[in-house]
Amino acid sequence: MIPAALIEALAEARHVCVLTGAGVSAESGVPTFRDAQDGLWADYNPLELATREGFSRDPALVWRWYRWRRELVAGVVPNAGHTALAELAGMLPRLTLVTQNVDGLHQRAGSADVIEFHGNLFVDRCFDCGRPGDAADEELPRCEACGGLLRPGVVWFGEAIPSDAIDRAFAAAADCEMFLSIGTSALVYPAAGLIDIARENGAVCAEINPDPTEQAASVHFAVAGESGRVLPELLGLLAS
Ligand code: APR
Repeated sequence: MIPAALIEALAEARHVCVLTGAGVSAESGVPTFRDAQDGLWADYNPLELATREGFSRDPALVWRWYRWRRELVAGVVPNAGHTALAELAGMLPRLTLVTQNVDGLHQRAGSADVIEFHGNLFVDRCFDCGRPGDAADEELPRCEACGGLLRPGVVWFGEAIPSDAIDRAFAAAADCEMFLSIGTSALVYPAAGLIDIARENGAVCAEINPDPTEQAASVHFAVAGESGRVLPELLGLLAS
């Protein structure tokens, strides 16, 4: 059930900022990092697969893990939640979409200018010099510029969020009149801090999540439900 007051706030907002997490891609069948470690990769420690140290120790192993995840994500499609968010941008004066997901499904659904907090699974860059590269299918791809090893362009444990993403996201959170936190446990900082900034600056805050999070008590509206169901419904109400 979506409260009428939430739709009113959305209709009146000059700028809406949206933060999404793994839950938005759940209905597409993208396994979360934790889920993905069941089965084939159950014996591997995440710190071996998604840290600079792990990559330095065994880059071929890390590349096998990321190629496996790439294939998984390439084989799924955006769901109704992704599509609704892309459409919502066209219905509002301004929408800033910040995601913690690396799967690129928002872009495939038609969202533009997505701020990716944790990078992108399908982009490569050099481990040494940071320049972009294209790993293709080589087991140990090398940077054309410096000869260093290429690595997946995601943010690993212990690494900083790209400063450009941080700056743009925090500026949007401070400026928006409505903040939507969707499909994220909203526990991992600094992404989780965006909602605090928005609230402190007077934005109306809402979360959409089938399992209310720790933020549920402090947002104005906590809508319990899957994003693939709630977001299309929200769009329908906004349009009517
Ligand atoms: N619709 C909306 N939300 C959903 C759905 C759904 N269909 N299914 C699950 N959820 C919710 C869960 O209830 C949970 O609160 O999505 C949330 C997913 O939480 P996490 O797995 O913690 O994902 P996220 O918040 O994106 O984690 C942040 O932590 O693991 C690291 O780097 C990783 O980007 C990730 C970051």
